Order: sequence, then C-alpha cells, then structure tokens
Amino acid sequence: MNDQANRLRALARTQPAPSSLFGSRVMAIASGKGGVGKTNVVAGLAMSLAQQGQRVMVLDADFGLANLDILLGLAPSHTLEHVLRGEKLLEEIIVDGPFGIRIIPASSGIQELTRLDAAAELRLVQGLQRVSQGLDWLLIDTAAGIHDSVIKLLMAAQEVLLVTTPEPTALVDAYAMVKVVHLRDPQKPLWLLVNNAQNEEEAEETIEQLQAATQRFLNRELQVLGMLPADPFMLQAVRQQRCVVDLYPQAPATLAFAEAAARLQQKIPLQKEGFAAFWKGLSTEEP
Ligand SMILES: Nc1ncnc2c1ncn2[C@@H]1O[C@H](COP(=O)(O)OP(=O)(O)O)[C@@H](O)[C@H]1O
Ligand SMILES: [Mg+2]
Repeated sequence: MNDQANRLRALARTQPAPSSLFGSRVMAIASGKGGVGKTNVVAGLAMSLAQQGQRVMVLDADFGLANLDILLGLAPSHTLEHVLRGEKLLEEIIVDGPFGIRIIPASSGIQELTRLDAAAELRLVQGLQRVSQGLDWLLIDTAAGIHDSVIKLLMAAQEVLLVTTPEPTALVDAYAMVKVVHLRDPQKPLWLLVNNAQNEEEAEETIEQLQAATQRFLNRELQVLGMLPADPFMLQAVRQQRCVVDLYPQAPATLAFAEAAARLQQKIPLQKEGFAAFWKGLSTEEP
C-alpha cells in the first residue's frame, strides 16, 4: 500500500498529472454592475483553459439574464430548469462547446439554485457528482449585483473572480461586492480582472483605486488576475455568436485571456473533492 502511494507520488512529481485525480477548482465569476463583460470573461477563460489542456465545465447561473449559450452560438433544447423539475438528467442537457468545454445552460427566470426544494437539490447534486468526473475546472457565470442568492453562490465557490470596467459606477459597485463577500468570509480568495480598459495605464489606475479603497476600509488586498483591453475583435465575435478566443487567435483580448488562464492554473491551488465541496457549500450555506 505504502509502495503504491510512493509510486503515485513519484509519478506526480515527474509527469504533468491529470489534475482531476488530485483535485479540481471551482471559480465563480461575479460583478457588481451588469454589462461589464462577465459572460464574455467566463467564455474566454473557459476556452483558453481548454486550449491549455484543461477540462472545463461552465455553469450558467445568471438566471436573470442567462445568455452564455447565445454568446457561444449554442441552441440547447433543454436547460437546468428541466433538470430541477425532474424531466431531464443533467447529462442530457449539457452541451458541448468549442475545445471540449461543457456547458450547463440555464434559462432566464429559473428558480434560484440556492432555494431549491429537497428533491430538486438532490437531482442537481447527484447529477453534478456524475458529470464532474475527470474535470479540472468549474466556472460559474453569476448574476450581477449583491443579491443574496449570488452571494451564496460566491461563498460556496472556492475562488471568486470579480470583473469590473474602469468606469466609476462599475468600480463603486465592485467595491460594494468586495465588502459584502469580505464581511461574510475575510478568507475568501478574491481575484480582480479589469475589463474594457483603453490601455494598461487605465487598467492599473483602476486596480489601484479599488485596492486603495479595500485596503483603507476593509484592510484587504485583492489578488490581481490581470486586464483585458477594449478590443473591437471582441465585439465582432459577439455579433457572430462566437468567442473571440475561438474566432480571432491573435486578437489582443485572446492573448490576454491566454495569459489570465495560465496565471489561474499557476496560482490557484487544486482542491481535493473541489466540486463536492462546492455543492455541499451550496446546500448548507446559511442565508
Ligand atoms: N474587452 C472588451 N472589448 C470590447 N467589447 C467588450 C469587451 N468586454 C465586453 N464587451 C462587450 O460588452 C457587452 C457586454 O458583455 P457581457 O459579457 O454580456 O457582460 P455581462 O455578462 O457582464 O452583462 C458585450 O456586447 C461585449 O461585446
Ligand atoms: Mg452576463
């Protein structure tokens, strides 16, 4: 037994191990304000991670404006709603996106994930246990704002990525989001991505402003994932219902996504039973 454990350890040291054997990562992508590019960030990171050899699943948990599938040009015939009602199994509604990413589509106006009755919760949790085998990442697109149901999702996730633009309104709302999460759990890993910056200077200024506020009022520093430039290729891609990473491999946004995805893999620790911890957190997290 010991021998086998040692062999496994030696193997893990010498080879890039299939990370799901050793754990996975669950990251919720959040924003204070809507329209800052959160869904595009989820799609871009998912694709870049997949291109870098990671097995990625994306959960659309923005039940107000569920549009991840539209952004990726997918037309799912069924959504999470059918699973919760017991009409479909989770594996029947998952759609395959580019580079092997798997997408759990939602529909707008669906019941909140954090307020499910026991039967629906069981369907979801058991389904997720089945479909998360062998995956490295679960990325969750959440609704904008600090509504209770969003905060519960963020608290259950291992990591939270906060997306903001340099606009003062987005920045103020981003701060509000940091504050709510921090007060609930001062240890919750919080990452920051500045989207739609005109240049690096503007992105850095944005990061500094937010860091100054969180440090002064919360004594808290955010981890910086990076910035995404304002990129006309991104708009072009959206119009064609494709992800910029997929359609324009050399676009500035694509290169920034690749960099951010590599940093995520480097910096975020693998969590054993990561997905299970998330689903358990979802069902036990107090309001
Ligand atoms: N870096 C960027 N450069 C150019 N356009 C962007 C960028 N990020 C987002 N957009 C545009 O902003 C709009 C809103 O993006 P979306 O991802 O739907 O925001 P959210 O999910 O936060 O509501 C989209 O039409 C998208 O094309
Ligand atoms: Mg969105």
